[in-house]
Amino acid sequence: MATNPKVEHLQKLREQAQAGGGKDKVDAQHAKGKLTARERIESLLDKGSFRELDMFVTHRTTDFNMGDKKFLGDSVVTGWGTIAGKTVYVFSQDFTVFGGSLGEVHAAKICKVMDLAMQNGAPIIGLNDSGGARIQEGVGSLAGYADIFLRNTLASGVVPQISVILGPCAGGAVYSPALTDFIFMAKSTSQMFITGPEVIKAVTHEEVSFENLGGSSIHSSKSGVCHVVAENETEMFELLRQLLAYLPANNMEDPPYVETGDAPNRIEEKLNTIVPEDASKPYDMKEVIRLIVDNGDFYEIHENFAQNIIVGFARLGGHSVGIVANQPLVLAGVLDIKCSIKGARFVRFCDAFNIPIITFEDVPGFLPGIEQEHGGIIVHGAKLLYAYCEATVPKLTVITRKSYGGAYIVMSSKHIRGDFNLAWPSAEIAVMGPDGAVNIIYRKEIEQAADHAAKRQELIQSYRDKFSNPYVAASRGYIDDVIEPSETRPRLIQALSMLQNKRSSNPPKKHGNIPL
Ligand code: HXC
Repeated sequence: MATNPKVEHLQKLREQAQAGGGKDKVDAQHAKGKLTARERIESLLDKGSFRELDMFVTHRTTDFNMGDKKFLGDSVVTGWGTIAGKTVYVFSQDFTVFGGSLGEVHAAKICKVMDLAMQNGAPIIGLNDSGGARIQEGVGSLAGYADIFLRNTLASGVVPQISVILGPCAGGAVYSPALTDFIFMAKSTSQMFITGPEVIKAVTHEEVSFENLGGSSIHSSKSGVCHVVAENETEMFELLRQLLAYLPANNMEDPPYVETGDAPNRIEEKLNTIVPEDASKPYDMKEVIRLIVDNGDFYEIHENFAQNIIVGFARLGGHSVGIVANQPLVLAGVLDIKCSIKGARFVRFCDAFNIPIITFEDVPGFLPGIEQEHGGIIVHGAKLLYAYCEATVPKLTVITRKSYGGAYIVMSSKHIRGDFNLAWPSAEIAVMGPDGAVNIIYRKEIEQAADHAAKRQELIQSYRDKFSNPYVAASRGYIDDVIEPSETRPRLIQALSMLQNKRSSNPPKKHGNIPL
């Protein structure tokens, strides 16, 4: 067979680029339980769909004897491919080359795919595994980060941006993931922090391990930085593919329709008895969600963080919806600082990407307490309120039980442009719960009664009979209908269909000023 030396040379160069930092470094990467940058891309995308860009790019640094240390492609692999047949843009930092550190050309490669993602309206996925700014390149590295941060910000709300953390992500480098929509982390191999344990020890004298400082468990449960946590890299890519299936490619598209095979008119008798008779008893709102959505499939975001509110994606009649729900099992489903922030961010994501929001409500109010007040519950609670108020996607609400005070208004009420608001017969809609209300408005009567406790109980019962039901709100049209819980699924699907051509917009402005 005839050979062409130029083609052979090209083949050699390609092989060289594919080898990354070399066999030793690749072995070391594997020994840590991590895949290489290219293996990750292969594992994430549809088989054979990846098309690489900038494979021949090398850095231009000569300081620190860097001139004779060059690797084809430098320390990041970039390009595009498909997931479930749909185009995505991807960059994957290569830890085997200079520890995946980011210099001028590394940043330029990322910027190129980000620009393509924006121009062509497709998601951008970043696989992060990097020692941060390339120290040898100095301010050139910082400029590179800045170029990426700017693009992250401009792309926000235009194309979905997903950050996958697969190794260290330290210093200012964390701000690119933080600017994106979702952060995925893997158990034990992913770490994110602004300053590492050594610096912390020197400055505050606190001692902490990498894992306890910025591992997946901390960020998925305590800080809320991480949205989805996976056992390992393989599970992570599967979870990422599942998430993308709920999302449109960009903000001008509707989310994808998927034939789920679940009957839209399915009646779920179990829902009629799911709310306990005793209003102080909890029940699992996740069970309510699973009984209603298509095939019980619920993709939860922030599963371990601020668990008094539940957020995530599901399908109703095949259409993607965002679910926001109070969780009576945790803190009685009360609204506090963390859950307000969690809910607000999710509502804004759904609104930006045309995903209807379904709210399941059982909320006793905002959490009282000095810590909450001093922590700024006023301004943080306002985030959730603001997010719901500004959202123009179809908004459907089901009040399953408690709906008291400011929380009644916040949780997608009719007054803030809820499109279709339903209540179950167990709903209690009032300024506050019977106990608190009676203590305030009947204080004198209770004090003057011969038997304080009996009088109190009598007044509580009378308040409950009068106000702790959905019919006062329904009589004013603040609730569109009171329904049997069993028929919730068909009623929501019918409402979604009725609202499919909804047109609603906010007044023209540069941007609002959400209480940050
Ligand atoms: C250049 C780097 C590097 C960096 C690692 N390497 N980080 N090269 N710039 N930032 C190189 C190492 O020299 C080494 O090269 C190879 O990558 C692998 O690193 P190891 O240390 O051997 O790996 P490991 O033991 O796994 O430790 C990984 C690590 C550690 C925890 C990430 O390398 C580390 O602490 N790096 C520095 C992290 C850091 O402080 N970065 C700057 C953050 S500030 P050889 O040739 O020996 O294989 C920042 C500012 C951004 O990023 C601001 C943006 C606004």
